[in-house]
Amino acid sequence: MNRKPFIAGNWKMHKTIAEAVSLVNAILLNLPDPQEIDVAVAPPFTALAAVAEAIKDTPLKLSAQNLFWEKEGAYTGEISPLMLKDVGCEYVIIGHSERRQYFGETNEMINKKVKAALTFGLKPILCVGERLEEREEGKTFEVVKRQLLGGLAGLAPEEVLKTTIAYEPVWAIGTGKTASPTQAQEVHAFLRNLLTKNWSKEIAQKVRILYGGSIKPENIKVLMQEEDVDGGLVGGASLKAESFVRICNFKGD
Ligand code: 13P
Repeated sequence: MNRKPFIAGNWKMHKTIAEAVSLVNAILLNLPDPQEIDVAVAPPFTALAAVAEAIKDTPLKLSAQNLFWEKEGAYTGEISPLMLKDVGCEYVIIGHSERRQYFGETNEMINKKVKAALTFGLKPILCVGERLEEREEGKTFEVVKRQLLGGLAGLAPEEVLKTTIAYEPVWAIGTGKTASPTQAQEVHAFLRNLLTKNWSKEIAQKVRILYGGSIKPENIKVLMQEEDVDGGLVGGASLKAESFVRICNFKGD
């Protein structure tokens, strides 16, 4: 296993432009060795340009939180993959559970977004994860399988290689209730196995699978000890430089 760890901060609907720039400036002061770990931030759309400027010529990477699948057109309020590329994004989060829950995103829509991102040279971070009632009904594997295969449907092997998967159990998001390392590992291993079956073992071994849901400086290390946990998608704890850089520097913490 030689996957490089990847920590991404999903800021969700937080931070004005000034707050965003001040946060990245603080993160940049304590960034871990870029040879050892990849770190990205996903500010809201309105702060992308300013953050892109602030992190220029640094190893910190830029991600968006969503996109629409068309290049341009009469789609009021939407942002295209071309625009995200233009502003300097390398990554884009797609299919976050909040988008599925509040904005009606289906696996079909998410698949179109993943394909559009790849077409325009963006690397998708595809989110999957079960709701509490689905876990309690024993449907976790069934749900994440549908989300993974639905989201990646029709992708060529080289496209899958450019994709990152984030397993975010909905019951762990913003609740302070983190999945145990064992719970995370069993789903991550299941997802990797699906990649093996549907593409190849070689691809499955290379794709990074992040965990997300109440990650804190106190729990990142044990999660990262699991074989198939390759990093984290961090919400609340990414809004403060102090906690985010501690998470990013988990190796030395
Ligand atoms: P929290 O870290 O706040 O639980 O959020 C996780 C998440 O949704 C990241 O995308």
